[in-house]
Amino acid sequence: MKGQILEALRERTHYVSGEALSHQLGTSRVSIWKHIRGLKEDGYVIEASAKGYRLVSSPDLLLPYEFPGLEQRIHYFPEIGSTMDAARELAKKGAGEGTIVIAEVQTRGRGRLSREWLSPEGGIYFTLVLRPRISPAYAPRINLMAGIAVAVTIKELYGLKAELKWPNDVLIEGKKVCGILAEMDAETDVLNFVNVGIGINVNTSLPRFEKTATSLKDALGREISRKKFLSALAVEIERWLPLLMKADLLEEWRRLSATLNRDVRIMSLGEEVTGQAMDIDATGALLVKDKAGSLRTVLVGDCIHLRE
Ligand code: BTN
Repeated sequence: MKGQILEALRERTHYVSGEALSHQLGTSRVSIWKHIRGLKEDGYVIEASAKGYRLVSSPDLLLPYEFPGLEQRIHYFPEIGSTMDAARELAKKGAGEGTIVIAEVQTRGRGRLSREWLSPEGGIYFTLVLRPRISPAYAPRINLMAGIAVAVTIKELYGLKAELKWPNDVLIEGKKVCGILAEMDAETDVLNFVNVGIGINVNTSLPRFEKTATSLKDALGREISRKKFLSALAVEIERWLPLLMKADLLEEWRRLSATLNRDVRIMSLGEEVTGQAMDIDATGALLVKDKAGSLRTVLVGDCIHLRE
């Protein structure tokens, strides 16, 4: 109902009477009034006068009813430990494909390789529950898909060149703007679910001395609407998801890659692999030509880009 009220208020620039709203939305004026009060508590500025209600401003919060069509699938938390934990619990209980856990702030956000993911106000932090019918061996393609969706959204909305660093970072001018973490639940050959966690530095400002990370705000020189970004990203994910097992996905990743053709050093399962990144294979593994000229298949690891 809150979403429908917002939509009705946004359709007009002048006042809308409580009576007109209750008529349009098929509910009582008391119910309209209660929901308006709820919206005000959420941070919406709504002017009320004898002529009715007028929406003056909306907070840039990722509240479920700001995403018409997705609302029923969103679990929203102003603050949480990690969206990964909440999503895992939901998925274990049978939550369907497309369930989304969003938090404004995470107190125990985590990154790959057990690292911490700082999650202050102003970023976008969410985990998406997916249940693709693919073999667990192909699960890393989900990271590729998520990276592509983020990079394409950045380019389409702001014209910034976003690139992908294997296995799943999104970079702007060589600095990380987004990290992706996938956790799966699988049996030998059956994938029950894959939860994809996406963390984007949006309106956060990073210290000047920070050489390896950036935010959209720092790259653009202004704050942006996180709601608009997340809506556009959801559309992009829905566009790429059906292409998960198609060659087009790998092609797009190659096109956006900042890793391919570079000299890289990868710490992989306690072993260091140094060489030139040649390609990715169908499972998302990186193919590296090492110093001896052998082609090594690197499944997981931490990748460092060496000189240009
Ligand atoms: C990485 O680059 O190491 C991955 C970072 C992933 C961060 C996101 S934020 C939403 C989700 N919840 C978490 O605790 N982590 C992921």
